[in-house]
Amino acid sequence: MNINKGNLLYKGKAKDVYQTEHPKRVMVKFRDDITAGDGEKKEIMGMKGYYNSLISAKLFKTLEDAGIKTQYIDLPEPGHMLAHKLDMIPLEVITRNIAAGSLLRRFPFQEGQTFDPPIIQMDFKNDEYHDPMLNKDIILALGLANNEDLRIIRETTLKINQVLKSFLESRGILFPDFKIEYGRDYEGNIVLGDEISPDTCRFWDRETKDVLDKDLFRKGESGVIEAYKKVANIILDEKDKKRWNLDF
Ligand code: TMP
Ligand code: ASP
Repeated sequence: MNINKGNLLYKGKAKDVYQTEHPKRVMVKFRDDITAGDGEKKEIMGMKGYYNSLISAKLFKTLEDAGIKTQYIDLPEPGHMLAHKLDMIPLEVITRNIAAGSLLRRFPFQEGQTFDPPIIQMDFKNDEYHDPMLNKDIILALGLANNEDLRIIRETTLKINQVLKSFLESRGILFPDFKIEYGRDYEGNIVLGDEISPDTCRFWDRETKDVLDKDLFRKGESGVIEAYKKVANIILDEKDKKRWNLDF
């Protein structure tokens, strides 16, 4: 398929965003670059963009089916996602169902402790400042969002957590935490954007407790792509696999 890409609008650490002929639509290219530590640790892993695009598209579609507005329009081919153009808000909205990662390094929680209701944390998306954790007053003072935006973001994020947690758990995957980002569309609506993939979530096999996400790379362990492929295999249904002629 011919993927028509116009000007490069944005180059992130793992994705490129291109303008399309349609002013309100962009093409997101998922690259094979994998980074950690604000980009200090960096490698290229063949097929990472391919699997992340398939996983993100499936999870966005699942959210759309549950009535949540997302940036996703279509995946014309693995690696390329057609999306609504958004003005992204530099907030990393993290939801935690089980204590893991930086939460354990920063606070006296027990490893594996569960949170019900979940914890929602917001970090400033800014490599130069190392993505510091924010509070409401700092978000308002920086002008990143207003009170109403924050109410919508919180409510939508809790709903996203419910939908994805039950979708994944029904397939044997635990969902300890994840990071999402929002943007504003042309009408000013707050819309879920970016990606939802093993780069941005923790996924654990419920039975074996195997890690199926970027923590493998962060910790220098092997089997990163195999883990991403396994997530794609578990969450895609037969129809998706047929569409892409997937060999699993
Ligand atoms: P953390 O425990 O390291 O703070 O990570 C929480 C969640 O956020 C985890 O699912 C991975 C995701 N994440 C990102 O997507 N980008 C990042 O830069 C970091 C640090 C975490
Ligand atoms: N997203 C950050 C980076 O790419 C860190 C991480 O995900 O651990 O450097």
